[in-house]
Amino acid sequence: MFLSITDLFVNYGKLEVLKGVSMEIEEGEISLLLGANGSGKSTLLKTITGLNRPISGSIRFQETKINGMASYDILRLGIAHILEGRKIFPLMTVLENLELGAYSRKNKREIARDIEAMCERFPILGQKRKEQSGNLSGGEQQTLVIALALMTKAKLLLMDEPSQGLSPLLVNEIANTITGLNRDGLSIVLVEHNLRLGLSIADKVYVLENGKIAFEANSTDLSGVEYAQKIYLGG
Ligand SMILES: Nc1ncnc2c1ncn2[C@@H]1O[C@H](COP(=O)(O)OP(=O)(O)OP(=O)(O)O)[C@@H](O)[C@H]1O
Ligand SMILES: [Mg+2]
Repeated sequence: MFLSITDLFVNYGKLEVLKGVSMEIEEGEISLLLGANGSGKSTLLKTITGLNRPISGSIRFQETKINGMASYDILRLGIAHILEGRKIFPLMTVLENLELGAYSRKNKREIARDIEAMCERFPILGQKRKEQSGNLSGGEQQTLVIALALMTKAKLLLMDEPSQGLSPLLVNEIANTITGLNRDGLSIVLVEHNLRLGLSIADKVYVLENGKIAFEANSTDLSGVEYAQKIYLGG
Protein backbone atom coordinates (compact mmCIF):
# COMPACT_ATOMS: atom_id res chain seq x y z
CA MET A 1 0.00 0.00 0.00
CA PHE A 2 1.21 3.49 -0.87
CA LEU A 3 -0.10 5.57 2.04
CA SER A 4 -1.98 3.79 4.75
CA ILE A 5 -3.57 5.59 7.70
CA THR A 6 -5.00 3.51 10.51
CA ASP A 7 -7.20 4.65 13.38
CA LEU A 8 -5.58 8.06 13.77
CA PHE A 9 -6.43 10.24 16.78
CA VAL A 10 -5.26 13.88 16.99
CA ASN A 11 -6.09 16.46 19.66
CA TYR A 12 -5.22 20.10 20.25
CA GLY A 13 -5.24 20.22 24.03
CA LYS A 14 -8.74 19.15 24.96
CA LEU A 15 -10.13 19.59 21.47
CA GLU A 16 -10.46 16.19 19.81
CA VAL A 17 -10.17 16.75 16.06
CA LEU A 18 -9.39 13.37 14.47
CA LYS A 19 -11.14 10.47 16.17
CA GLY A 20 -10.19 7.33 14.35
CA VAL A 21 -9.33 8.29 10.78
CA SER A 22 -8.47 5.37 8.50
CA MET A 23 -7.62 5.78 4.80
CA GLU A 24 -5.82 3.89 2.08
CA ILE A 25 -4.34 6.11 -0.61
CA GLU A 26 -3.24 4.38 -3.78
CA GLU A 27 -0.22 5.25 -5.86
CA GLY A 28 -0.93 7.29 -8.98
CA GLU A 29 -4.29 8.59 -7.86
CA ILE A 30 -5.74 12.00 -7.08
CA SER A 31 -7.61 11.71 -3.80
CA LEU A 32 -9.99 14.51 -2.90
CA LEU A 33 -10.53 15.20 0.79
CA LEU A 34 -13.73 17.09 1.57
CA GLY A 35 -15.19 18.29 4.85
CA ALA A 36 -16.75 21.33 6.47
CA ASN A 37 -14.63 24.21 7.81
CA GLY A 38 -12.94 23.06 10.99
CA SER A 39 -13.56 19.36 10.33
CA GLY A 40 -9.82 18.61 10.47
CA LYS A 41 -8.65 18.40 6.86
CA SER A 42 -5.57 20.56 7.37
CA THR A 43 -4.93 18.79 10.67
CA LEU A 44 -4.89 15.45 8.86
CA LEU A 45 -2.41 16.68 6.22
CA LYS A 46 -0.19 18.20 8.92
CA THR A 47 -0.23 14.95 10.84
CA ILE A 48 0.87 13.03 7.73
CA THR A 49 3.89 15.33 7.30
CA GLY A 50 4.84 15.32 10.97
CA LEU A 51 3.73 18.86 11.81
CA ASN A 52 1.20 17.42 14.28
CA ARG A 53 1.76 14.42 16.52
CA PRO A 54 -1.04 11.88 16.73
CA ILE A 55 -2.12 10.54 20.12
CA SER A 56 -2.52 7.10 18.62
CA GLY A 57 -2.87 5.34 15.30
CA SER A 58 -0.36 4.75 12.54
CA ILE A 59 0.68 6.23 9.22
CA ARG A 60 2.68 4.13 6.78
CA PHE A 61 4.21 5.36 3.54
CA GLN A 62 5.43 2.61 1.22
CA GLU A 63 5.62 0.25 4.21
CA THR A 64 7.65 2.68 6.34
CA LYS A 65 6.01 3.85 9.55
CA ILE A 66 6.25 7.64 9.38
CA ASN A 67 4.28 8.79 12.40
CA GLY A 68 6.86 9.90 14.93
CA MET A 69 9.38 10.82 12.22
CA ALA A 70 10.59 14.41 11.79
CA SER A 71 8.99 16.45 8.99
CA TYR A 72 12.33 16.76 7.26
CA ASP A 73 12.73 12.97 7.08
CA ILE A 74 9.17 12.52 5.84
CA LEU A 75 9.92 15.01 3.07
CA ARG A 76 13.06 13.08 2.17
CA LEU A 77 11.01 9.90 1.92
CA GLY A 78 8.93 11.66 -0.73
CA ILE A 79 5.92 13.44 0.76
CA ALA A 80 5.69 17.18 0.06
CA HIS A 81 3.06 19.42 1.58
CA ILE A 82 1.59 22.61 0.17
CA LEU A 83 0.23 24.33 3.25
CA GLU A 84 -2.96 26.33 3.38
CA GLY A 85 -2.31 29.93 2.27
CA ARG A 86 0.54 30.78 -0.05
CA LYS A 87 3.66 29.83 1.81
CA ILE A 88 6.44 31.27 -0.29
CA PHE A 89 9.37 33.35 0.91
CA PRO A 90 8.12 36.78 -0.20
CA LEU A 91 11.37 38.70 0.16
CA MET A 92 13.30 36.24 -1.97
CA THR A 93 13.31 36.01 -5.73
CA VAL A 94 11.51 33.31 -7.69
CA LEU A 95 14.83 31.54 -8.30
CA GLU A 96 15.80 31.68 -4.62
CA ASN A 97 12.45 30.18 -3.68
CA LEU A 98 12.94 27.31 -6.12
CA GLU A 99 16.42 26.68 -4.69
CA LEU A 100 14.91 26.52 -1.21
CA GLY A 101 12.41 23.95 -2.44
CA ALA A 102 15.38 21.69 -3.13
CA TYR A 103 16.94 22.15 0.31
CA SER A 104 16.68 18.47 1.18
CA ARG A 105 18.57 17.49 -1.99
CA LYS A 106 22.31 17.46 -2.55
CA ASN A 107 23.15 17.18 -6.26
CA LYS A 108 23.68 20.81 -7.35
CA ARG A 109 23.72 20.03 -11.06
CA GLU A 110 20.42 18.17 -10.89
CA ILE A 111 18.89 21.00 -8.86
CA ALA A 112 19.96 23.56 -11.48
CA ARG A 113 18.53 21.37 -14.23
CA ASP A 114 15.23 21.00 -12.38
CA ILE A 115 14.99 24.75 -11.83
CA GLU A 116 15.36 25.20 -15.59
CA ALA A 117 12.67 22.56 -16.14
CA MET A 118 10.31 24.43 -13.76
CA CYS A 119 10.89 27.67 -15.66
CA GLU A 120 9.98 25.89 -18.87
CA ARG A 121 6.99 24.11 -17.44
CA PHE A 122 5.70 27.34 -15.87
CA PRO A 123 6.86 30.09 -18.30
CA ILE A 124 5.63 32.89 -16.03
CA LEU A 125 8.18 31.78 -13.43
CA GLY A 126 10.90 31.81 -16.07
CA GLN A 127 9.98 35.36 -17.06
CA LYS A 128 9.92 36.57 -13.47
CA ARG A 129 12.78 34.50 -12.13
CA LYS A 130 14.69 37.53 -10.82
CA GLU A 131 11.68 39.24 -9.25
CA GLN A 132 10.94 39.38 -5.57
CA SER A 133 8.26 36.74 -5.24
CA GLY A 134 6.09 38.78 -2.86
CA ASN A 135 5.41 41.06 -5.84
CA LEU A 136 3.92 38.27 -7.97
CA SER A 137 0.15 38.10 -8.39
CA GLY A 138 -1.84 35.60 -6.34
CA GLY A 139 -2.07 33.14 -9.20
CA GLU A 140 1.62 33.48 -9.99
CA GLN A 141 2.46 32.90 -6.34
CA GLN A 142 0.32 29.77 -6.29
CA THR A 143 2.18 28.53 -9.38
CA LEU A 144 5.44 29.18 -7.53
CA VAL A 145 4.16 27.26 -4.50
CA ILE A 146 3.47 24.25 -6.72
CA ALA A 147 6.87 24.53 -8.43
CA LEU A 148 8.53 24.83 -5.03
CA ALA A 149 6.86 21.61 -3.88
CA LEU A 150 7.90 19.86 -7.11
CA MET A 151 11.53 20.83 -6.48
CA THR A 152 11.48 18.43 -3.53
CA LYS A 153 11.05 15.54 -6.01
CA ALA A 154 8.12 14.23 -4.03
CA LYS A 155 6.21 11.06 -4.92
CA LEU A 156 3.15 12.18 -3.00
CA LEU A 157 1.99 15.78 -2.92
CA LEU A 158 -0.46 17.01 -0.28
CA MET A 159 -2.22 20.17 -1.48
CA ASP A 160 -4.27 22.23 0.96
CA GLU A 161 -6.71 24.43 -0.98
CA PRO A 162 -4.58 25.39 -3.97
CA SER A 163 -7.40 27.38 -5.61
CA GLN A 164 -8.04 29.62 -2.63
CA GLY A 165 -8.51 33.23 -3.70
CA LEU A 166 -7.96 32.60 -7.40
CA SER A 167 -10.21 33.72 -10.26
CA PRO A 168 -12.16 31.04 -12.19
CA LEU A 169 -9.69 31.24 -15.06
CA LEU A 170 -6.75 30.58 -12.77
CA VAL A 171 -8.65 27.83 -11.00
CA ASN A 172 -8.90 26.08 -14.36
CA GLU A 173 -5.17 26.51 -14.84
CA ILE A 174 -4.45 25.02 -11.44
CA ALA A 175 -6.73 22.10 -12.30
CA ASN A 176 -4.78 21.53 -15.53
CA THR A 177 -1.50 21.75 -13.66
CA ILE A 178 -2.65 19.18 -11.11
CA THR A 179 -3.86 16.71 -13.73
CA GLY A 180 -0.61 17.21 -15.67
CA LEU A 181 1.49 16.43 -12.61
CA ASN A 182 -0.62 13.38 -11.92
CA ARG A 183 -0.20 12.18 -15.49
CA ASP A 184 3.55 12.44 -14.99
CA GLY A 185 3.24 10.01 -12.09
CA LEU A 186 2.75 12.18 -9.02
CA SER A 187 0.18 10.95 -6.50
CA ILE A 188 -1.89 13.74 -4.97
CA VAL A 189 -4.08 14.28 -1.94
CA LEU A 190 -6.13 17.40 -2.56
CA VAL A 191 -8.11 19.43 -0.03
CA GLU A 192 -10.38 21.67 -2.01
CA HIS A 193 -13.48 23.68 -1.22
CA ASN A 194 -14.13 24.21 -4.92
CA LEU A 195 -16.18 21.07 -5.37
CA ARG A 196 -16.46 21.35 -9.13
CA LEU A 197 -12.70 21.60 -9.51
CA GLY A 198 -12.08 18.80 -7.05
CA LEU A 199 -14.58 16.36 -8.49
CA SER A 200 -13.52 17.08 -12.07
CA ILE A 201 -9.98 15.82 -11.46
CA ALA A 202 -10.19 13.35 -8.55
CA ASP A 203 -10.12 9.56 -8.75
CA LYS A 204 -11.39 9.08 -5.19
CA VAL A 205 -13.46 11.21 -2.86
CA TYR A 206 -13.30 11.14 0.94
CA VAL A 207 -15.49 13.10 3.34
CA LEU A 208 -14.22 13.93 6.82
CA GLU A 209 -17.00 14.36 9.34
CA ASN A 210 -17.05 14.16 13.13
CA GLY A 211 -13.38 13.25 13.21
CA LYS A 212 -13.72 10.26 10.88
CA ILE A 213 -13.86 9.41 7.22
CA ALA A 214 -17.63 9.25 7.04
CA PHE A 215 -17.75 8.45 3.36
CA GLU A 216 -15.55 7.41 0.46
CA ALA A 217 -16.26 6.65 -3.19
CA ASN A 218 -14.71 6.51 -6.64
CA SER A 219 -15.37 9.77 -8.43
CA THR A 220 -16.85 7.72 -11.28
CA ASP A 221 -19.44 6.38 -8.83
CA LEU A 222 -22.04 9.04 -9.55
CA SER A 223 -24.49 8.11 -6.84
CA GLY A 224 -21.64 8.14 -4.33
CA VAL A 225 -20.44 11.53 -5.51
CA GLU A 226 -23.95 12.95 -5.35
CA TYR A 227 -24.16 11.70 -1.82
CA ALA A 228 -20.81 13.32 -0.99
CA GLN A 229 -22.01 16.58 -2.53
CA LYS A 230 -25.16 16.41 -0.51
CA ILE A 231 -23.58 15.90 2.86
CA TYR A 232 -20.71 18.21 2.05
CA LEU A 233 -22.94 21.03 0.90
CA GLY A 234 -25.44 20.24 3.62
CA GLY A 235 -28.22 19.67 1.07
N1 LIG B 1 -2.77 24.72 16.18
C1 LIG B 1 -4.03 24.59 16.65
N2 LIG B 1 -4.30 24.76 17.96
C2 LIG B 1 -5.57 24.62 18.43
N3 LIG B 1 -6.63 24.31 17.67
C3 LIG B 1 -6.42 24.14 16.36
C4 LIG B 1 -5.11 24.28 15.78
N4 LIG B 1 -5.20 24.04 14.45
C5 LIG B 1 -6.50 23.78 14.21
N5 LIG B 1 -7.23 23.84 15.34
C6 LIG B 1 -8.68 23.55 15.47
O1 LIG B 1 -8.87 22.22 15.02
C7 LIG B 1 -10.07 22.12 14.24
C8 LIG B 1 -9.73 21.57 12.86
O2 LIG B 1 -8.97 22.56 12.16
P1 LIG B 1 -8.43 22.34 10.69
O3 LIG B 1 -7.60 23.52 10.37
O4 LIG B 1 -7.80 21.02 10.60
O5 LIG B 1 -9.79 22.34 9.86
P2 LIG B 1 -10.04 22.32 8.29
O6 LIG B 1 -10.93 21.16 7.99
O7 LIG B 1 -8.75 22.40 7.58
O8 LIG B 1 -10.87 23.68 8.08
P3 LIG B 1 -10.89 24.71 6.82
O9 LIG B 1 -11.75 24.07 5.77
O10 LIG B 1 -11.54 25.92 7.40
O11 LIG B 1 -9.49 24.95 6.39
C9 LIG B 1 -10.69 23.50 14.25
O12 LIG B 1 -11.66 23.53 15.28
C10 LIG B 1 -9.53 24.42 14.57
O13 LIG B 1 -9.96 25.57 15.26
MG1 LIG C 1 -7.87 23.79 6.35
